[in-house]
Amino acid sequence: MKFYIKTFGCQMNEHDSEIIAGVLESTGYQPCDELDEADIIVVNTCCIRESAENKIWGYIGNLKNAKYKKPGVIIAVLGCMMQQQNIGDMLNRMGKHLDIVLGTYQQHRLPEYISRVLGGERRIVDISEDNRDFPDVLPSDRGDGPIHTAQINIIYGCNNFCSYCIVPYVRGRERSRDFNAIIDEIRQVAGQGIKEIMLLGQNVNSYGKDLAKAGVENAPDFAAVLEAANAVEGIERIRYMSSHPRDFSPALVDTISRLSKVCSYYHLPLQSGCDKTLKAMNRGYDRARYAEIIRQIRTTTPDAAITTDLIVGFPGETEEDFRECLDFIAECRFDAAYTFLYSPRSGTVAATMPGQVPLAVKKERLQRLTNLQNQISLEKNLAYVGRKVKVLVEGESKNNPDCYTGRTDSNKIVIFHGEPQMINQIVELEITAAKTWHLEAF
Ligand code: 5AD
Ligand code: SF4
Repeated sequence: MKFYIKTFGCQMNEHDSEIIAGVLESTGYQPCDELDEADIIVVNTCCIRESAENKIWGYIGNLKNAKYKKPGVIIAVLGCMMQQQNIGDMLNRMGKHLDIVLGTYQQHRLPEYISRVLGGERRIVDISEDNRDFPDVLPSDRGDGPIHTAQINIIYGCNNFCSYCIVPYVRGRERSRDFNAIIDEIRQVAGQGIKEIMLLGQNVNSYGKDLAKAGVENAPDFAAVLEAANAVEGIERIRYMSSHPRDFSPALVDTISRLSKVCSYYHLPLQSGCDKTLKAMNRGYDRARYAEIIRQIRTTTPDAAITTDLIVGFPGETEEDFRECLDFIAECRFDAAYTFLYSPRSGTVAATMPGQVPLAVKKERLQRLTNLQNQISLEKNLAYVGRKVKVLVEGESKNNPDCYTGRTDSNKIVIFHGEPQMINQIVELEITAAKTWHLEAF
């Protein structure tokens, strides 16, 4: 039997899908690239913003056609969206054609549920939060062909409860993965010739806190994971995401700058540049503290790139508050910013706060923010022109089949004329031009 996986959402979800593929293959199912060929369709869902959810309900609705064409096809829907409190109502309205619905804690059990459906059971829903049997080592299918980056989980869940965010509700409390299981996996991917790893977690800086609390002696922390990863032969670049600025201590910045393989790239989600909004978001830092971290990074690693996430139109954000954000963003001079319209998520504290901002105002603010940041991103990129950079070659450019694409240590995308044998190698290139979102080396 063949399976097809459609993934929505973040890198954690992308990697969860690799694990789901690995688990299905080890049970004897074969992956396929076309939905029409599949006997099992798996949808991995995301609920971080309403726009994601609307798109996914549309996709799930369309799967009725697949069921109509091939009545025996098994449709399984997994992931964050299925773990939400109000999911029962939605499934009753929109999910009658689904065979299996699994929440975030149960997705590794998919093969068992597929067997039950094959045995005649109908409409299985398991969104229980019982994760005691969640295994630390699962196979991953990282896809075909040369792989430049292996994603490796180090911690699941989040304890932060930022007031806008649904993640702690659908991914649960922080659970660090066993240290040795992580290092073994890094050695294993290095053995396969993979040069870059991406350590994944909703908040990687929290790694080990739960272990220490549970009484593990000399519990490792995130710095210990970085140190051990840095020592693995064959690995040349180490990346991680996401980080919380509150937990970004001076000691951690020092460790990162000292370890040669850890990339000079910091993604530090700011969310807002206004102290009143940061407080209402429950972020645990203010502008002054954030500015201090940036200063420290730029002092220890002047070449480092710093990027961020920003939300506009959080409840109560006034025009004056927003102007404060713009001023602070101009001050920080980020290499890039991922910008979002605030989206109320049912069950979070912010969803019921007074002062919800009208959509038109949010959109107008997003536009002003984008204009400012695009200008800064371009200026930052122009500073690379004429410089030689080391690029890990990822493959052919999707937008331009005559070109290749790769990334600098500082995570800048570089487009250039290359050869197939360069894929997965680190090459030196001279930057000849800069755009807002990428560099060119022609
Ligand atoms: N509305 C808008 N953006 C959100 N994010 C998280 N929750 C929301 C929400 N309710 C953004 C944050 C986070 C990124 C992954 O998604 O900026 O860093
Ligand atoms: Fe959400 Fe905040 Fe946790 Fe990030 S740190 S996943 S924004 S609650």
